[in-house]
Amino acid sequence: MLILMCLLTLLSLLYYRLSRKERVDLPGPGLCIPLLGHYKLFLQGSDNIKGIWNLYKQYSKQGVMLLNVFGMNNVIVGDFYVLKELFNNPDVANRGHVEFGKCNFIQKFNEDRGDPPGPLSGVIFSQGRAWVEQRRFTLKTLRDFGFGKSSMEETIHDEVRQFIVYLKNCTNTPVDIARKFNLPILNALWKIMVGESFEYTDPKLEKLLNDLGEFARRFGSPSTVLVLNYPWLFKIFPTLLNRNKDIEFMREIMLMMNKCIEQHKLTLDVNSPKDVIDTVLIEIQNTKDELSSFYQNKGYNNLVNTMLELFVAGSETTSTTLTWAVLYMIREPEIQSKVQAELDRVVGTSRLPSLSDRSQLPYTEAVLMEIQRCGNIVPNGVHHMASRPIQINGVTIPANTMISPCMSEIMKGDYWGDGLVFRPERFLDESGTLKSDERLIPFSIGKRRCLGETLAKTEYFLFFTALLQQFSFMPEISGTVPSETYVPGASILPIPFKTIVKPRY
Ligand code: HEM
Repeated sequence: MLILMCLLTLLSLLYYRLSRKERVDLPGPGLCIPLLGHYKLFLQGSDNIKGIWNLYKQYSKQGVMLLNVFGMNNVIVGDFYVLKELFNNPDVANRGHVEFGKCNFIQKFNEDRGDPPGPLSGVIFSQGRAWVEQRRFTLKTLRDFGFGKSSMEETIHDEVRQFIVYLKNCTNTPVDIARKFNLPILNALWKIMVGESFEYTDPKLEKLLNDLGEFARRFGSPSTVLVLNYPWLFKIFPTLLNRNKDIEFMREIMLMMNKCIEQHKLTLDVNSPKDVIDTVLIEIQNTKDELSSFYQNKGYNNLVNTMLELFVAGSETTSTTLTWAVLYMIREPEIQSKVQAELDRVVGTSRLPSLSDRSQLPYTEAVLMEIQRCGNIVPNGVHHMASRPIQINGVTIPANTMISPCMSEIMKGDYWGDGLVFRPERFLDESGTLKSDERLIPFSIGKRRCLGETLAKTEYFLFFTALLQQFSFMPEISGTVPSETYVPGASILPIPFKTIVKPRY
């Protein structure tokens, strides 16, 4: 036993020395253990989000901290200006691909999605030329088909109306509101993408969206890093940490997207594209450059992966934000009443609130901002990766190192004073005029900031205002409000709670 302990200690010291060679000037929580990394993270309890924030507060210097989780180095950035400079730097726009040896986890996503080996397609995890092309084209086509246009507002209003009818049928019993928003939120995007919407009552889709939620929970946990870094473990134990479920879920969505693309191929009219998919199919047909990410099979692969990513990113995030919105309104009945009073005064009851009302609803806007700040639904953002060594604020981040924001520090830390308190007035000046704050960055910042921000903000505003115009949200048990405790994950949902939905008129 003693020999084993001595061996382990020696190995730890060796590993620590070797792993520090490249990153001598990066502060971090001390000793790394082979395979495990910074063991102090594991002493922080099961909430790795709070755990990382605690370590950041204790060990960061110059706005950064190096954290090694299961052998993977990740630079955590909690200073707004450091993050802004890093994420605006074109050399910090990678995600990490197969050629980076240790950080070759992107390969894992390929396997999960049933894709051939090689650079990952799509937008979220692609990089280099493919990412630039796919992001630019997706954004442009989404805009052409409605993003940011008045037609998008009409499409979302259709979904809002249906959702109001649905909620009016739920007024007798307490409602578990989480995930109820997924479908209407997804539908607006899907009409633009695919020209179709999903049925509210489709049980297969309901299961898929629930699985999506579970997937998002699992994805943000340190165990995901274990999956990514030590794939051999899962070859031996394929069901460990529900990894088989992740693969099943990914394959199911890929199948659904592929079917959709095949149907579009059959009805494609190159002179009159109906939706985003038609437009991409035409681009693929017209691409002769073999290096382009739209070339032949590469093009189809990128299309199916982009669809999958928009399906995942486009439903879970906005609906989670709306769930936090309901939670905070139950917790803060006075704030709820103030929003309703402003809506009654500016909009009335004869029509739904519209985007053109925004400028006259400063208090409501401040509440929307405060919900995003406190909900902080993507607490560790999506990692970036440096493609060459980066000097910042007196420290050097080695090439091919993951870089992740500590959103909790940026959006709730010392800068805010009372950052843990829900207080929308922080976004209003003395005269009640809305004042934004550059540190409110739920959609991240820089070159890779959220591609769906315009849609998300529009859906968030239209759903929230219509719901508060029509209903009051109250606790399931009078006097007992739902807790801010969340289930840790890549995006965080409050622990289950129910609400009484009371029609206002
Ligand atoms: C409230 C809702 C949302 C939040 C809080 C959110 C947040 C984020 C964050 C933090 C990132 C990471 C950016 C980075 O790498 O620095 C991101 C990326 C992304 N989001 Fe969103 N998002 C939301 C809604 C959406 C929607 C509705 C869509 C789809 C239409 C979407 C599509 C994407 C895509 C494709 C990326 C990857 C961008 C890239 O790598 O270039 N998001 N989002």
